[in-house]
Amino acid sequence: MKTLRLGIIGGGLMGRETACALARWCNLEDPGVAAELTAICDLQPAVLDWFRRLPSVKLLTADAATLLASEEIDAVYVAVPHHLHEALYLQVLRAGKDLLAEKPFGIDLPAARRIRDEAARLGRFVRCSSEFPFWPGPQRIMAEVRAGKCGRIIEVRSGFLHASDLDPSKPINWKRQAQFCGAAGVMNDLGMHAVHIPLRMGWKPAHLYARLQKIVAHRPDGKGGSAVCDTWENALLAGEFRDEAGSLVPISIETKRVAPGETDTWYLEVTGTEASYRFSTKEPKTLWVFRRDKEQWWQKTDLGNTPPFKVVTPGITEFGFSDCFQQMIAAFASEWAGTLGGRFGCVTPDEAVASHEIWDAALRSHATQAVITLD
Ligand SMILES: NC(=O)c1ccc[n+]([C@@H]2O[C@H](COP(=O)([O-])OP(=O)(O)OC[C@H]3O[C@@H](n4cnc5c(N)ncnc54)[C@H](O)[C@@H]3O)[C@@H](O)[C@H]2O)c1
Repeated sequence: MKTLRLGIIGGGLMGRETACALARWCNLEDPGVAAELTAICDLQPAVLDWFRRLPSVKLLTADAATLLASEEIDAVYVAVPHHLHEALYLQVLRAGKDLLAEKPFGIDLPAARRIRDEAARLGRFVRCSSEFPFWPGPQRIMAEVRAGKCGRIIEVRSGFLHASDLDPSKPINWKRQAQFCGAAGVMNDLGMHAVHIPLRMGWKPAHLYARLQKIVAHRPDGKGGSAVCDTWENALLAGEFRDEAGSLVPISIETKRVAPGETDTWYLEVTGTEASYRFSTKEPKTLWVFRRDKEQWWQKTDLGNTPPFKVVTPGITEFGFSDCFQQMIAAFASEWAGTLGGRFGCVTPDEAVASHEIWDAALRSHATQAVITLD
């Protein structure tokens, strides 16, 4: 069995989540690959210190070039603010390492294309992060739709909602400033989660109309003053994709940071002529299925802990965020090792570019109040 030796650049929120996923690799019954964290790079000494608790980490550095020079690394997970994606991703690729990128895969569409094209030129294995599709609920929805059980698709609704920015006294950070987060704002930050499955299923909008909102204009700067908060906070995209028969099917893609009552709500709803499906992380065990019958009824099923990569934890138990994140890391590692098989894989570079094409169209639609056709 191959071992993926992973380095991390950016040990913040997601760098630590990835380290935890690797630290409990033994929870995976059949990943088809071993994986370990060997090196960490972050500019902040206090962040580096956190990683000293992990015995597999041999190299701690503030310099990305030092990490990339290590022969103890096959691939690098880069989790830094969006304005740094392109330079660091290209540095990783040119150092001869494979890459697990974070969304949005470059700050904008041209950056995403440059990253994808350089990876192809160098022949490197590159995937991008998006963990929510690894929940048992959306896995089941995709399997049922692929098996034709929903009949003709009537409509798709996909979204990711936070109330994290509802409080105007919350201090500013890089995710709330366009120069660091990107002009696409919340779509750059939350959008990949909402389009990973639609893109994988062939539901990319052929055209769309978007409404974007900036709700909180200023926030405390954390130093006693005030800072401009200039990112789009909420985005509602309505479009249509073509199904296999060539018919147009409505799709809505909703990403919001100011969504009262929502903590980390990812949802997918697919309605069809024979069956319909609903999954939301608000009801994380539950898959709702509607089958055509004489009467209208929704069937509620508790799916339990039944992810794509089998786990030691019993199937009767609950699945959670750290589980779906570990499943995504397992998908990256096993696809890297050639053992993914028919299981669901991480976002590809082409899908990441396609996500930016959607955000780019949404920005143009909002600016012109027009329906935008995608290429
Ligand atoms: N998949 C998910 O669910 C998810 C969730 C949150 C964020 N993200 C993505 O992860 C990425 C990072 O977000 P985060 O929330 O972890 O950010 P964060 O601010 O918590 O952490 C970023 C870290 O990068 C470090 N850093 C900055 N510049 C660096 C450099 N040049 N070299 C080395 N380290 C550097 C910072 O010191 C910080 O520790 C973003 O792309 C974001 O969109 C993904």
